[in-house]
Amino acid sequence: MHKIALLFLTFTLTLLALDNESKICQKCHPIIYDEYYDSSHRKSSVYNNPIHQAYWDKHPKDEKGYTCAKCHTPTDHKVLERGVLEKNKVQVEEPISCVFCHTIKDVNEGEHSNSNISSGEHKEFFTAEKSLRNSEKAEFKTQTSFFGLVKTSTSSPYHKIDYNNENYYNGNVCMGCHSHTNNEHGFDTAMLDAVIDDKDKNSCVTCHMPQVMGSKVSLSDSRTHAFHGMAGIYHMNSEMGKYIDFELKEDSSGFSVTVVNKSNHALFGQALREGILKTTIMRNGKEIKLHEFSFIRILGKEGKEVMPWAANETLKDTLIYASREVKFTRHLEKGDVLILKLGVQLLSDAGAVSLNLQDNKEVTKFRVLKSQKIKIGHGEDRQIQ
Ligand code: HEC
Ligand code: HEC
Ligand code: HEC
Ligand code: HEC
Ligand code: HEC
Repeated sequence: MHKIALLFLTFTLTLLALDNESKICQKCHPIIYDEYYDSSHRKSSVYNNPIHQAYWDKHPKDEKGYTCAKCHTPTDHKVLERGVLEKNKVQVEEPISCVFCHTIKDVNEGEHSNSNISSGEHKEFFTAEKSLRNSEKAEFKTQTSFFGLVKTSTSSPYHKIDYNNENYYNGNVCMGCHSHTNNEHGFDTAMLDAVIDDKDKNSCVTCHMPQVMGSKVSLSDSRTHAFHGMAGIYHMNSEMGKYIDFELKEDSSGFSVTVVNKSNHALFGQALREGILKTTIMRNGKEIKLHEFSFIRILGKEGKEVMPWAANETLKDTLIYASREVKFTRHLEKGDVLILKLGVQLLSDAGAVSLNLQDNKEVTKFRVLKSQKIKIGHGEDRQIQ
């Protein structure tokens, strides 16, 4: 009976494979699938992301065709080979599929962008699991004991698992797409400026795929699993604030706030994004709003801001690399409460206009990453909340 059920499952799964491979994974990894379905990685195509659509509509078209496919829709082999973009099931359901990520064997470095090297396997996946590192490739095993009365099984009946790929432990698995995306003048339009250092306490995976409640597989209960919705601007944005610190300093000309970035990459580097620090002083029950500081990189040509693909110079760069100090020419007084709010807009107001997305309020919404109130006292009695 058990065998027949398994055979039947394998049969239906094989049929599904022709159509939508990630849907197969859903059968046994339902929670991870749901998160993935709502993630930027599932929404990375023109058909699922209005910003990408607007950007591609404006992008000059040439014989190379839809070059974005390399990172945005690598699971759609047709568009990768021919460059002709067509709406199909892969574009909508799994532009970067489960199998795509879990079969990245290695990453090759390149001048314009890096490239993912796939193992080409469809039923053998890489992953990271510290307790199983250096163990043999896991295969499905069943054991029968007590004269056939009790059956126990280990690992997956659908696929093998390889726990020994270093790229999944240090975050390098992300760098095929997230390292740099240079335009033809050599200007990086995503500019994450990420540096992977094995000595770092956190990696791309620990920060952006934190362990959250829920089993990683329905056949057993693992309690937690790695969040596949990807913590970032679209999800868990305010929780990412814990990787950012504010440092306050006062001097004779006023005060300054240094925003300290504890990640291993620049913040808000994606073209047309904008980070904003909003600063308010509460004094005697009154609100004093100070100037908003913008963390932005403006790309241009001949002194004017242009679309990222045409840029050959940087007109302004106030992004946060390791840290950035923002100065205010105003003195703080005892009893003041300083309110700091750091947030991000998917697109700067000007960026939204240049993509004709000014009516889409989602793209210019201020998404708070970190907020903090600092009570101003004398020296030691300063309280930070
Ligand atoms: C028939 C059920 C089944 C299907 C279908 C299935 N898996 Fe699994 N998968 C499992 C089981 C069971 C485990 C083992 C978990 C363990 O050993 O703790 C597992 C483990 C994994 C792991 C490693 C987890 C870990 O930390 O040990 C990855 C990665 C994975 N599956 C990816 C996939 C992908 C991608 C697909 C779709 C192509 C898929 N699985 C389809 C049952 C399945
Ligand atoms: C080398 C890989 C790579 C290539 C090629 C690439 N991108 Fe991207 N793109 C990314 C990555 C990675 C991100 C996410 C970066 C981030 O959020 O900081 C991204 C983000 C974006 C975003 C922002 C999406 C959002 O929701 O805010 C847009 C728009 C975009 N890309 C458009 C394009 C277009 C159009 C092309 C082709 C002309 C293209 N990209 C080519 C890797 C790439
Ligand atoms: C096949 C290429 C590819 C790989 C591999 C990849 N990404 Fe992405 N990622 C993208 C693209 C493209 C986007 C932007 C999608 C969009 O919005 O259009 C993106 C978006 C994101 C975002 C932005 C989400 C947000 O809400 O702001 C985060 C965070 C992210 N990826 C983290 C990771 C991490 C961590 C890894 C490694 C485990 C990884 N990515 C691997 C292509 C990739
Ligand atoms: C952007 C790349 C990417 C995509 C897309 C992706 N995964 Fe993963 N997945 C990873 C990485 C990296 C890990 C290792 C997480 C860790 O070390 O905690 C992982 C871990 C897992 C695990 C083990 C979970 C755990 O907590 O150890 C399973 C199971 C899994 N993925 C299944 C899937 C399924 C099913 C899909 C599609 C619905 C999918 N993955 C899509 C990159 C990806
Ligand atoms: C110490 C934690 C930490 C580490 C390590 C880390 N990040 Fe981030 N990442 C952040 C924070 C904080 C932000 C800003 C929050 C936001 O924009 O949601 C961010 C933002 C991002 C974004 C969105 C940027 C944008 O403006 O579109 C992407 C994409 C991303 N990280 C990918 C990665 C990749 C890939 C790695 C590994 C090379 C990585 N991160 C390592 C904390 C981290």
